[in-house]
Amino acid sequence: MRDNYPIKTICCIGAGYVGGPTMAVIAKKCPHIKVIVTDINEERIKNWNNKNLERLPVYEPGLDKIIMACRNENLFFTTQVENSIKEADMIFISVNTPTKTRGIGAGMASDLNWVETSTRQVARFAKDHTIVIEKSTLPVRTAETIKQILVSSESQSGSENTKTFSVLSNPEFLAEGSAINDLENPDRVLIGGDDDVAIKSLTNIYKCWVKEEKIITTNLWSSELSKLTANAFLAQRISSINSISAICEKTGANIHEVSKAVGLDKRIGNKFISPSPGFGGSCFKKDILNLIYLCKYYGLEEVAEYWNQVLSINNWNRNRISRIIVDKLFGTISNKKLAIFGFSFKANTNDTRESSAIQICKNLIEEGATLAIYDPKVNEDQIARDLNQKPKVNFNKSEILSGEWYFCSTPEEAAKRCDAIIILTEWQEFNNLNWSKLSVLMRKPSWLFDTRNIANYNLAEKYGMKVWRLGSENQ
Ligand code: NAD
Ligand code: UGA
Repeated sequence: MRDNYPIKTICCIGAGYVGGPTMAVIAKKCPHIKVIVTDINEERIKNWNNKNLERLPVYEPGLDKIIMACRNENLFFTTQVENSIKEADMIFISVNTPTKTRGIGAGMASDLNWVETSTRQVARFAKDHTIVIEKSTLPVRTAETIKQILVSSESQSGSENTKTFSVLSNPEFLAEGSAINDLENPDRVLIGGDDDVAIKSLTNIYKCWVKEEKIITTNLWSSELSKLTANAFLAQRISSINSISAICEKTGANIHEVSKAVGLDKRIGNKFISPSPGFGGSCFKKDILNLIYLCKYYGLEEVAEYWNQVLSINNWNRNRISRIIVDKLFGTISNKKLAIFGFSFKANTNDTRESSAIQICKNLIEEGATLAIYDPKVNEDQIARDLNQKPKVNFNKSEILSGEWYFCSTPEEAAKRCDAIIILTEWQEFNNLNWSKLSVLMRKPSWLFDTRNIANYNLAEKYGMKVWRLGSENQ
């Protein structure tokens, strides 16, 4: 009886926000292992292989250095899914699991189409014994489906070429913008499964840089449910603090003071209680919807409704902020120009998935405003896709527009002749905006709406701006 499967080659199916950085860190920490990241998206793979590291498909601080050091040494990006699977001893499935848009569970359940397709590819092309790992976030008991597909392709005993599988769950807890640090210094590594030998093989990989006591093992279903639960808890804290922000604005309490006072209680802690326009990102909403679907499936309606409120408050908060902006600007923003500072769902990422900026910008455009959008990392094409509207180009900047948007390369360009600056993402550069310069460029009365509480509002006020801050008593 072996106590370990030797791992020479790892394959990761899905070269996205998780697959790319996760495999880069494994390659860096385990130089003795060959790591192949494969994807059906040719453009993505081309960009992972681009010599110009600015073109990597994922922006993460520190990622470019690892790619530079490991790419084509022991880290490879390819569209050759079939060969990569054949060569691998261990396969991570790290494909997208978006919310279903049609059929049973539409709008709630995860669409497992990509997981099933990649599992079938593994079943078809894998050789010898292969450890298959769920890296994607999946509904509880998905491992059952994966096992069934794989087992049906296993070789019968006595046949010449043996093909067998072990299935593990190893959910990823990295957050975008700090992915490399999160991967290199995880709070915990969670491995779910019932095959001790496979668990040991995966543990040995993590042990190259993670202390053994941080690697915890559970059964498959606990591992799958822990991932959904962690995201639901984090999102719940944000909805909680955002709901309290609204009370602060009405009562004269200050959300920072409240958040600090509450967070100093060790039992509560100070993380994930920063008020914001609402949580975005590809996963919180999707994973809570998934949890809600699971509750409904098991007839737990009250539990489903409890988690649904976390999402409802998030939506409500975005619309609430949009309404406040209109209200402060004399009840109409039609024919007004508003500068949007920040479009990504959080700082230090170019990812805009579920960004609160999308809903707030759509609301403002719908009200007739023209938006001048600036973000240090998000490009024009991405914003156009998110807003479902092309930018206005080649127009005279003094022309009065209504319900349009255009892309700006600097904060100053966006601020020119605008009535308000609205900070939606907490990019560090917004801490130190040059208010003496910006205020002169704007139309009077000029407003600052700071939904992240990061701007130097005293300075903005000093230069004659009116200021609205989330969670504070305002003018
Ligand atoms: P993503 O959309 O950025 O990447 C997924 C990639 O998988 C895409 O490039 C897609 O082309 C590829 N793919 C799909 N089917 C394929 C197939 N059959 N063969 C080869 N490639 C295929 O998604 P992501 O953000 O990396 O998320 C992946 C999973 O990880 C999701 O389940 C998500 O919930 C989870 N997760 C994401 C994060 C995050 O921060 N983004 C963090 C933790 C967990
Ligand atoms: C989140 C989790 O933090 C990760 O652990 C998890 O792996 C990941 O989801 C996932 O499963 O995809 P991510 O969405 O990348 O990571 O980023 P977060 O830092 O969690 O931020 C999510 C959103 O919450 C952002 O819009 C952020 O601005 C907002 N947020 C965060 C707040 O509004 N307040 C806070 O105090 C913290």
